[in-house]
Amino acid sequence: MIAHFGRRYRISASHRLHTDAISDEENRATYGKCNNPHGHGHNYVVEVMVAGPVDTETGMVINMAALDEVVRAQVVERFDHANLNLDPLFANRVPTTENLSSVVFTLLKDALLAGKLERVRVEETENNFFECVE
Ligand code: NI
Repeated sequence: MIAHFGRRYRISASHRLHTDAISDEENRATYGKCNNPHGHGHNYVVEVMVAGPVDTETGMVINMAALDEVVRAQVVERFDHANLNLDPLFANRVPTTENLSSVVFTLLKDALLAGKLERVRVEETENNFFECVE
């Protein structure tokens, strides 16, 4: 039997949706006010879902403290109170929340959670959320 475990983390970060691949006018048409040159911020909620068999000794899918440490080191420290546009991972990607959820998924998958990471869901606002699965 496979059990699923989800945990939420919070990061506050700014971004500006803009790509050099199209003109300034096309950027404004594509991204609207999210293309404002000064950027804007979000209080993102990052939900990490892991899945796996329940360990017979610990009774857990994953050690929560270990999960917290990975997410803190890989995601929270990197993106909390940061300008996403300045992160090297967004040098060639627009920092949409679709791309943020994808980047978070890859960072976590590459660090310890291989085989257990099932899904990353990022809430950008009350009404917008994005999910990334492999
Ligand atoms: Ni935004």
